[in-house]
Amino acid sequence: METNAPKRRDNKKSLRVKVISLGNAEVGKSCIIKRYCEKRFVPKYLATIGIDYGVTKVQVRDREIKVNIFDMAGHPFFYEVRNEFYKDSQGVLLVYDVGLRESFDALDSWLGEMKQEMGSQANMDSIVFVVCANKVDLTKRRVVDEGEGRLWAESRGFHYFETSAQSGEGISEMFQAFFSSITDMCENGGKRPVSEVSVGFTKEQADTIRRIRNSKDSWDMLGVKPGATREEVNKAYRKLAVLLHPDKCVAPGSEDAFKAVVNARTSLLKNIK
Ligand code: GTP
Ligand code: MG
Repeated sequence: METNAPKRRDNKKSLRVKVISLGNAEVGKSCIIKRYCEKRFVPKYLATIGIDYGVTKVQVRDREIKVNIFDMAGHPFFYEVRNEFYKDSQGVLLVYDVGLRESFDALDSWLGEMKQEMGSQANMDSIVFVVCANKVDLTKRRVVDEGEGRLWAESRGFHYFETSAQSGEGISEMFQAFFSSITDMCENGGKRPVSEVSVGFTKEQADTIRRIRNSKDSWDMLGVKPGATREEVNKAYRKLAVLLHPDKCVAPGSEDAFKAVVNARTSLLKNIK
């Protein structure tokens, strides 16, 4: 009896969790996991075929966490293999390559695929998401800056880390935050604590800033049709100004977006009779 008691206590403190990696092919999902688990980097691209599975043990506070890692293939070809593995995940690594805008833009469709495959089980509030802006070592080819990535992640309540599987930058900090949040969530009855990644701005503000950054001209920026009237331009401007005014909006990039909106309105009004 006596010898069993500490064992039972230990069991109570141990946790078993499932995490998955998602993101376009070649963004570095497998390398991030390899860097963390094996402390090495492989420069040659070895595409994941369907799925790779591994187990690692980590310590979070007084708990031992057994982590089952399902490293997904990003290639569309493997959709049929991937879709079996979304269910019952407590954590998701969402990875993009900071040098490839399409890999960043694809994050929404990765979330979409996940929701679709989880079906009625889809409770995204019971999953910890970490966004990895990967390959930050390749500074010259970077096209998605930190503000844009952080905004996308934090407006959804996700963590954001800048990582390099090549140099190791950000990798252990990212995994530490990931596992610690998953543990907090499990201790919180399976609900992601809201305060943890509370950011003080709304998803509408974040999405608007992103839309403004990606707009193709001043009409598009204000969200009006080409040829709109002065009243329509001013109405759209006022709405955006209220949403993004730097006194009211703390989202990263709001000041630049606000200035861009002011300039867009000025240039449009110059040409409208
Ligand atoms: P799939 O398995 O096809 O979905 O790809 P993946 O996302 O697992 O990519 P993988 O980890 O295999 O890496 C793809 C390529 O990018 C490889 O050539 C890696 O060496 C390289 N790579 C990964 N991470 C980094 C990084 O942080 N910096 C640099 N410079 N290269 C990286
Ligand atoms: Mg891979």
